[in-house]
This record gives sequence, structure tokens and C-alpha cells, in this order.
Amino acid sequence: MKYYITTPIFYPNSSPHIGTAYTTVAADALARYHRLLGDEVYFLTGTDENAQKIVRTAEACSTDPKIYCDGVVERFKELWEALDISNDDFIRTTEERHQKVVQQIFTKLYEQGDIYKSEYAGWYCTPCETFWLENKLIQGKCPNADCNREVELLKEESYFFRLSKYQNILYKYIEEHPEFIQPTSRRNEMLRFIESGLEDLCVSRTTFQWGIKVPFDPKHVVYVWLDALINYISALGFPDGENYRRYWPADVHIMGKDIVRFHAVIWPIILLALDIPLPKVIYGHGWYLTKEGGKISKSRGNVQDSFELIQRYGSDAIRYFLLREMQVGSDGLYSEDNLVERLNSDLANDFGNFISRSLAMVVKYRNGVVPRPGQDGVLEQELKELSQEIKKAVEKSLEVFDPASALEQIWRFVARCNKYVDETAPWSLAKQDNQRERLDTVLYTFVECIRIMAVLTAPFMPGLPPRICALLGLDKGCIRWEEVDQWGILEPGTQVQKGEPLFPRIDISQFTIAGETKTVDQDQNMNQTQAQKETGEAVPAPEFEPIKAEISIDEFAKLDLRVAKILSAEKVEKTDKLMKLEVEVAGVVRTVVSGIAKHYAPEDLVNQYVVLIANLKPTKLRGITSQGMILAASQGDVLEVLMVNKDLPGGARVK
Ligand code: MSP
Repeated sequence: MKYYITTPIFYPNSSPHIGTAYTTVAADALARYHRLLGDEVYFLTGTDENAQKIVRTAEACSTDPKIYCDGVVERFKELWEALDISNDDFIRTTEERHQKVVQQIFTKLYEQGDIYKSEYAGWYCTPCETFWLENKLIQGKCPNADCNREVELLKEESYFFRLSKYQNILYKYIEEHPEFIQPTSRRNEMLRFIESGLEDLCVSRTTFQWGIKVPFDPKHVVYVWLDALINYISALGFPDGENYRRYWPADVHIMGKDIVRFHAVIWPIILLALDIPLPKVIYGHGWYLTKEGGKISKSRGNVQDSFELIQRYGSDAIRYFLLREMQVGSDGLYSEDNLVERLNSDLANDFGNFISRSLAMVVKYRNGVVPRPGQDGVLEQELKELSQEIKKAVEKSLEVFDPASALEQIWRFVARCNKYVDETAPWSLAKQDNQRERLDTVLYTFVECIRIMAVLTAPFMPGLPPRICALLGLDKGCIRWEEVDQWGILEPGTQVQKGEPLFPRIDISQFTIAGETKTVDQDQNMNQTQAQKETGEAVPAPEFEPIKAEISIDEFAKLDLRVAKILSAEKVEKTDKLMKLEVEVAGVVRTVVSGIAKHYAPEDLVNQYVVLIANLKPTKLRGITSQGMILAASQGDVLEVLMVNKDLPGGARVK
């Protein structure tokens, strides 16, 4: 089976951001999934360069549009590489292979009477690259709710494409093919839009020269949407290229909801007019919004550097977050806090932790050698049935382009596996001589569960399979979709390793308290110590932070810990965590900003003696210079400041 999937081609008027990345990551997950199914996949992305906004941006930077595009296109390519995007091709609309197809099609449509010359008078919105009728404007501005910017009146000789001629054919086609526009809410929107009447579309411009020339009338350049949409076939070598014959029609065009209209109306009509089969599915996803509610977009200035995010959290974690948070038919909420929360709970705690703790037990109880399992019990049977159910559910979700629910299903399996560890309590089995075979079965099941997780998550987090295969002592060939729900694949006798945690936990409290400095403390030891706890102790304890790497007594002696007397305390304005303290230590008064405000009222602190790290380099928190840190113990939601009760003066040493 062939599978042709595309993203929109992006305007390279600014660097890509995490919002734009969603479409490409989603398309990549689908492409990878189809490759795993054994389909012959062709995955296309690219850039839409012949737009007026590109000329404007390049002019603003006093540079040539092509040179400007070349630079930004490189950023796109770098981002896709950093996000492990596996596109087979990258088309730029300034390439000759694209331009010649656009010219051919324009000429053909003109010759058959579907394009005609007339005069255009209308309001043009450059950011949206769209003409609007006067009666559609809202208070004289662009009616696109996300734009609402100034429009300009344009009057010029133009070529027009007869959309109106195909209106009824298209309407009937959409009605008869419920799968054509997805999800259903977008299909309904499109039907309403077509019912309101299609107007012929202006497809050329004479007021600027940047773009593809109309071959028989070179003072015109082809207007952006007709030009852009054709990329989906020009990249395949339309009309007689091998790829075109092999891959067209597209199995799915994935895009944001804002551009479904162009794909569901203009594109099918171009194809109908050329007597070319229509793409099978046009899928419109929501947008990533910020907490404040706005779409993430460069023009809103709410864009975070995607490269920095990838560097900080890793491509797999970013991909997981983007795919997991965007529910079908609605928008997704993006914030770095949400991202860290997902990373810690789903990836570090649930997924990574299962892998570390179960491999640690194979290492501890069987020297890392996968044992031959004994007879399955009820729990193993249940896991096997669940794996079959999950495989089907994931397949069903991906058939309807819904990675979020596919991941939700996979995490049901992850949760069940974690429960299996607690239910089987291998640390108790290990203490009973007559439970040797049972322990073998449990340990073998662990390793099979890890293999299954590696296969299930492979399309979404492509960085994982090689890392997991290495832990399991397998080559990449162990990632076979058809074997997801088949058990007994892993050979007993295989040597496994504990390895490094796959997703180190991010210390979110430090992350939020530090606010503007955004210190991220990656705790490398978390999963390992927890696994040690499980293999060494019979009674499961609450989740503790791991004990940090050893230090010498000399290193400890560098810390100057002192008793300090709190003279005054007040909450820092506009924060709920921070308390500003004045403390007296060794005859001087210091200011300390401490993240304890949720746990203490100022009056409970004044006149108390606490322990201060007196020689910590000062740091600024919310504009206040904090000269040290006071010690507090915390577990979960409980926090207690360490207080000294004996009559010791401020300044006494703590050692
Ligand atoms: N060039 C046209 C597409 C032509 S396709 C023949 C275009 N480009 S774009 O760069 O403005 O947008 C490309 C895609 O990015 C769109 O699908 C758009 O919805 C998506 N996104 C831009 N910001 C986004 C978010 N904040 N969230 C999710 N998708 C976002 O339109």
C-alpha cells in the first residue's frame, strides 16, 4: 500500500515556532506509523515563498526576497531535523520544478476557459494573503477573527478562476464522501461556506513582480493560493513523473483549521477542472493557544524559541506534549509549565520509571539475563489481552488522524504495567525459594512489556526505539508493528541493561519559583534510586527525591550554614509562593527571598531562628536580591522550615 501525506507549505516570513511545528509533528507520527505498517510512504513538506508578505518582510530587512527566504528555509529544515521529522521531500515554491508545473496548469485552465481575464477591485489583507468583499469587512478591517488587521483597496487587471462553475459538483462530492473533510465539524463548516455561494477567485496580480509569471501574459504573477496548492503535485513530478503516478492522490493533507477552506474548496476545484482525482482526506486540526488564549504566532509576539525548548527537554518530550495535548476538533493549550508537568508525570514517572524499575530487577535478580518464563498466570493473561485491545484502539485512532487518543490508549497500557509490578511484588518473590519460576515469568513479562511499549510509541517518539533496543540488547529490527500484541518475541537468555533514565525528571518547583531565571534541574538519579528501593526493600515507600551524588567532607565544609533570626517577613507581591524575609546573622541583616509563602503566615515566622546558607551567591528573584537561602524539609505538599529551638544566637554555626 502507498501512503502519501503532506503538511501545508509554510510561509518563510519568519522562523518556525512550536505552534507551526504541530502540523509537521502530527504528519510525521502518521508517516512513521504507516511505514511501520509496511506502507510505502511519501511525506512532503516545504515552504510557500511567492507571497506578498515575503516581499514586504524582505524589504523591511533591506534584502532580496529569495535571499531572505533562503535563510529562513534553512531554519525550517534545521527545526524539522531537530524534531526528527522524516519527510521524504521538501518543496520550495521558488524551485523550477514547481514553477513549470504551475505555469503549465495555469495555461491549461486558461485554454479550457476556466481562467479568464477581468478587472479586480477589492480589499486585500496581506497577512492572510486574501481578498475580501467590502461587505465582509468588520469595521473596515480584515474579518478573519485571528487577524483583524488593516486591509488595502486594490484595483487591477487580473485573471480569475471559475470557482462558481464547480460549486455544485464540489458540494455533491463533499456530501457523498463524508470522509473527505475531517473532522466532521470542519466538513459542516465547509458545506455551509459553499452553500453561501462561491465567487470566482482572483488568481493573478500585477502590482508586484515576485512570483511565478503567467507564461502568456508576463506582467501578471500567479496569485499565491493557486500557486501554493499545486505544490502537492509538482513535488511528485506532475504530470508524468514516477512519483506522481505512484503516490497521487494524497491519502491526507494535514493542516490547521484556518486553511481548510482553501484546501477544501480551491484545491478540489483545480483538480476537478484538470480531471485529476481528489485527495482522499483533508484534515483540519486546531491551533496551539497560549494561556492568555491567543494563537501562538510570530505576529503576536508570544513565540518561544523552539530550538531552545528542544535543547532543554529533548525532541521526544516536545513531540509527546504537542501530540498529546491537541484534542480532535478543538485547540490545544501550550505553556512550558504544562509541558514540564506532562514530561514529569507521563514520561518520567509512568513510562520511564516502569522501564528503569523493571530492568533494574532483571539485573538484580537474574544478572540482566532475560529468564525463560514459566506458566502464565491470570495477570499475564490480562496484560496480553490488553495489548491486543490497545493495538486495535491505537490503529483506530490513527485511522482518524487522532494521535492524542492513540497516546491516551498507550498510556493505559503503561499504567497497567506499573500496576503489574506492584501486584506481582518481585522483591517478595525473590525472597522465596519456591517462587523462582514465578519470578522468571514476571521478569520475562516486564521485558516483553518494554518491547511492546517501544513499538507502540515508535511513531510518536522516534528517538526512543534505538535507546530501548539498546537496553534490551536488540537491534532496531525489533520494532515491528505486527508484533505489538504477540508475546514471546524476546529470546530468553538475552542480556539487558539498566541504563540511564529515559526521561530524567525536571524539578518543576525550582522551575516555577525561580520564575524569570527558569533554572531547570535535571535529576539524573531519580528513576535509578527508586528502582533500587524496590529491589532492596520489601515495603514500597512514598516517592522520594533521589539521593544526590556523593560529595567529600571538604566540599560540604564549603557550605556556611548559620542560625539566623527572622526579624520581619512579608509576602512578595503578585506571587503566591515567595516570602521576603529580613534575617539577622552574625551581627548583620540580610534579605532572603524564600518559596515558603504557601506554608507560613508572616507572623508565624517573625522571631523564629532558622538555618541559613550564608555564603550562597546572591540572586535576584522578582527584582529582589536574595542573599542566601533558608533550609526547609518538604515531601509532596508538606513543607516545614527547619527551626532551632535552643537559645542559640543568630550567627551560630550549623555543622
Ligand atoms: N502557506 C500557507 C499554506 C499553504 S498550503 C498549500 C500557510 N502557511 S502558514 O505558515 O501561515 O501556516 C502553516 C500552518 O501552520 C497552518 O496549517 C497553520 O494553521 C499552522 N499553524 C500556525 N500557527 C499555529 C498554531 N499556533 N497552532 C497550530 N498550528 C499553527 O498558511
